[in-house]
Amino acid sequence: MAPIPTSNGIRSPNTFSPSLSISTVHSIPLSFSHSSSPSLSSALSLSFPISRRFRSLRFDSSKNPITKGLKVNCSVGGEPLKVMISGAPASGKGTQCEMIVQKYGLIHISTGDLLRAEVSSGTEIGNKAKEYMENGLLVPDEIVTAIVTSRLSRQDAKEKGWLLDGYPRSSSQAQSLERIKIRPDIYIVLHVPDEVLIDRCVGRRLDPVTGKIYHLKNFPPETEEINARLVTRADDTQEKVKSRLETYKKNAEAISSTYLDVLNKIDGNRPKEVVFEEIDSLLLQVQEDKVKMRKSNNLHGKATIENAMLSNMTSSSQDNWRGIPTRLNNIPHSREIRKYFYDDVLRATQRAVEDGRIRLKVEINIPELNPEMDVYRIGTLMELVRVLALSFADDGKHVKVCVQGSMGEGALAGMPLQLAGTRKILEFMDWGDYDAMGTFINIGSIGAKEVNEQDDIFILVAPQNAVGNCIIDDLKAMTDAAGSRPVIIVNPRLKDLPSSSGIMQTMGRDKRLEYAASFESSYSFRLLYYAGTQYPIMGALRMSYPYRYELYKRVDDPSGKEKYVILATFPQKPTVDEINDAFTGKPRNQEKAASGIWNFFSGLLG
Ligand code: AP5
Repeated sequence: MAPIPTSNGIRSPNTFSPSLSISTVHSIPLSFSHSSSPSLSSALSLSFPISRRFRSLRFDSSKNPITKGLKVNCSVGGEPLKVMISGAPASGKGTQCEMIVQKYGLIHISTGDLLRAEVSSGTEIGNKAKEYMENGLLVPDEIVTAIVTSRLSRQDAKEKGWLLDGYPRSSSQAQSLERIKIRPDIYIVLHVPDEVLIDRCVGRRLDPVTGKIYHLKNFPPETEEINARLVTRADDTQEKVKSRLETYKKNAEAISSTYLDVLNKIDGNRPKEVVFEEIDSLLLQVQEDKVKMRKSNNLHGKATIENAMLSNMTSSSQDNWRGIPTRLNNIPHSREIRKYFYDDVLRATQRAVEDGRIRLKVEINIPELNPEMDVYRIGTLMELVRVLALSFADDGKHVKVCVQGSMGEGALAGMPLQLAGTRKILEFMDWGDYDAMGTFINIGSIGAKEVNEQDDIFILVAPQNAVGNCIIDDLKAMTDAAGSRPVIIVNPRLKDLPSSSGIMQTMGRDKRLEYAASFESSYSFRLLYYAGTQYPIMGALRMSYPYRYELYKRVDDPSGKEKYVILATFPQKPTVDEINDAFTGKPRNQEKAASGIWNFFSGLLG
């Protein structure tokens, strides 16, 4: 007989009432002192759980050094954690869920348990589900989805956060959640080799009294009395496990692709405490990110950002972003690829301007726009600028497109080579059929005198410091004159360059850097390579306002096709260490190895 799950989907012996939920947890707040997340101290509280449910639960937290006696309150300023856990049969989902629930107090919703409860109660749903479950097949979507969505919509799940275990199990189930805008903060996938899975299933035993999961070899019961009452799950035979495993593998990739932006793959073939330690550190990180977001949103007070960041939305699900185009090292890029990126930049920048942002920076380094590469095409940059300018002009704004002129004596003195001739190109470009040029769009250079009363918005083409000349003084004078009107700098290079004369600027270095940093990113995209090379592409980093930085890794699938998978997201531009850690699969906040091949990003991300 299967264990007796509750209608909450919790593998607990307490089957009596759905009200046996988290609402029975009482807590005594403690001050917070987690070594890896000191900044959480003000926003999170820990508490001793005194819970009817936990007192008789299968997991003995007092024996676990990690969760021992502590419970994290997950409702961070009214935004509780939303966690999905997935993995093959017997990968340890249930085992890890026990520990997560114990520490984080999330509402554990296990579809397997919910269904087994229906089966053992002999309900209509249970009778329908039984045959599928016994054959290791998926129960039809309409049955499972209805159960899950109704459970998720209950108040306790909204207040305390949820831990969804065993759902979604197919692409259509994932899409059902997407449609009703239910997304996790983090999607954890436990990976365990097939042969280990089979052994785990066949050796699994359940205690119908406490609901605790045992394994004949790995976690034998503590006493003879418990041993005598253990039961085996009906679907834990070798043959059925194989069929469950097949079903899992068929669906796994499609589901993961829905949650690429929050996906974290974890090696589940380690002692359960070690696996939990990794999950725990990820969850703490997610919480910390949420707290930071909330603080920063409070500062900015912008509803759009708040919504986007608090729900940990990434642009992939919100923004027509279909992922990184492949074969980006093939140049010139096709018109479609160029257009795809222009649209992406445009959407992000429009959102930022609509949100009242006034000092914006677009940084896009696809190969054609990467001035470090020999294919740098000023025409592509101009095309991008035209898309931006025409779009704002279409909205009735007077746009001034500015490119810096010579900054010294002589026609090209102090003029960065990449920009030579740019102004002429701008003047000769096709600016649309309705005579936008000269009316809604005007061309100028960089400086205060370019700012006229009728100008609504300024787009500055690649302002850059050149050896011996610093653009920042002119730029600052211009932004001062523009006041609260938006100034968008496209592919700026405002870092110090070595100067032979040593007299490069009037402002002090700190002030210059501070000024350059005052432009916030509305869009950022760059490909990542090994240091000193431009081939092969290792990954990419993308940010589209107001969403998070998304780190992608390029992989070649067995058919030889290249694709990009998202490794991690970050609220701020990640450091080289954070990128290295994500590429080497290290959980955040862990110590980094001294060095290695992945040190290749240094210098690229400044
Ligand atoms: P469900 O109950 O969800 O089964 P499952 O996904 O096959 O997962 P299991 O419960 O078997 O394993 P687990 O990963 O929780 O591992 P556990 O921690 O117990 O679903 C059952 C059925 O319901 C499905 O086949 C389907 O028919 C139906 N169903 C459910 N959801 C559905 C949906 N969304 N749509 C349609 N149908 C659905 O651990 C396993 C064993 O390993 C234990 O003995 C444990 O002690 C041991 N163990 C755990 N961790 C470790 C470790 N680190 N080291 C060593 N041993 C370990």
